[in-house]
Amino acid sequence: MVNFRHAIPTEVFFGEGQVKNLADVLNRYGKKVLLVYGGGSIKKTGLYDTVMEILNANGFVVTECAGVEPNPRIESVERGAKLCRDHSIDVILAVGGGSTVDCAKAIATGALYDGDYWEMVETANKIRKALPLVDIITLSATGSEFDANAVISNMTTNEKLGGVFCYPTVSICDPTYTFSVSAYQTAAGSADIMSHIMENYFSRTDDSDLSEGIAESILKSVIHNLPIALKEPDNYSARANLLWDSSIACSGIPGYGKQATGWPCHAMEHELSAYYDITHGVGLAILTPRWMRYILAKDPSVTARFAKFARNVWGLEGSDDAQLARLGIDKLESFFKEVGIPMTLTELNINEENFRKMAEHADKVSSLRNAYVPLMVEDIIEIYKACL
Ligand code: NZQ
Ligand code: ZN
Repeated sequence: MVNFRHAIPTEVFFGEGQVKNLADVLNRYGKKVLLVYGGGSIKKTGLYDTVMEILNANGFVVTECAGVEPNPRIESVERGAKLCRDHSIDVILAVGGGSTVDCAKAIATGALYDGDYWEMVETANKIRKALPLVDIITLSATGSEFDANAVISNMTTNEKLGGVFCYPTVSICDPTYTFSVSAYQTAAGSADIMSHIMENYFSRTDDSDLSEGIAESILKSVIHNLPIALKEPDNYSARANLLWDSSIACSGIPGYGKQATGWPCHAMEHELSAYYDITHGVGLAILTPRWMRYILAKDPSVTARFAKFARNVWGLEGSDDAQLARLGIDKLESFFKEVGIPMTLTELNINEENFRKMAEHADKVSSLRNAYVPLMVEDIIEIYKACL
């Protein structure tokens, strides 16, 4: 095992009805609240009304920052940070999916930042000051409710950058708020959860037993619960498991004690979203099996780990590791297809026009040369091509 640091300060209220704690939680920080939300799903589901009733009944002064985009834009960060300054905001309340929570993290940081906001995103890992952030998460995917990361897009420069901003101080995670998530976003979000696990699981460290067990359990939980949630969107147990899976998957915990891996599929996916504004989880589902086959062919020393994945996650049996390794990847790809995810870039109207630029940018801003199996620009281009 390699050394690691555990420091997750976020307080989580998990389960149905936990919004009853909202007023008490916000009162810790003050009365002036910036309410951040997305394109309107919370109005359709009635969550907006629930939240506003609580805020009004408890004397909070609310300023709204609505319309945060999926793949949140730097312009929304700027708008929110300005609202914080203009209204002397005490606390930010984000209600929505990972994009809303990510944007709120950057707003919380931006409110106390003097300088250019895109520069702030580029150097986020060095910033430690932020307004307090409370969130109510409505989509199981990113784990943004339980980590400090945010991913912000700049569509004018075709850049989508992740960085460490701030942890939510409190997250309210009520699985019933995810009942209304569409089948497409439920499947994409689950692919994201699985990717957060697989990005750490395929590492050179073999002896971090607890992390391995947590990782395999989360993958098996998603494989079990996603089809149920798709068939029965209001199945509490399935939705609750997916939600807690998502919070832990991106928390760092499943990677504790393991050598860094470079998170290659995320690095390659962020380029796709930056150029084509695609759904993050869909990009990951398309890339992951292709990346797996590519590295397995490039470096057969990874065969044993892929065979372990096939045995422990997919329940495959056999003594031929090379064959099991391939079958495990096939299983993953079939699973993504069965849950309705488009599995080629061609289906998303993406061709190879920008592959080189994307690969060069991924090479510049990510650590792919130090990945589990190191990837150079030409490797990345080949993986993109295999996704067509
Ligand atoms: O905008 P609204 O109207 O709210 O609709 C959203 C959006 O259209 C909708 N939605 C959310 N909750 C819903 C709902 N619809 C019905 N019922 C609900 N309960 O779903 C759509 C997608 O929402 P979004 O927030 O974009 O999805 P997700 O949670 O998957 O977040 C994706 C973003 O997070 C980043 C991604 O790159 C992407 O920008 N990531 C953040 C990470 C982090 N903070 O650690 C890590 C991830 O790897 C990821 O990169
Ligand atoms: Zn992700």
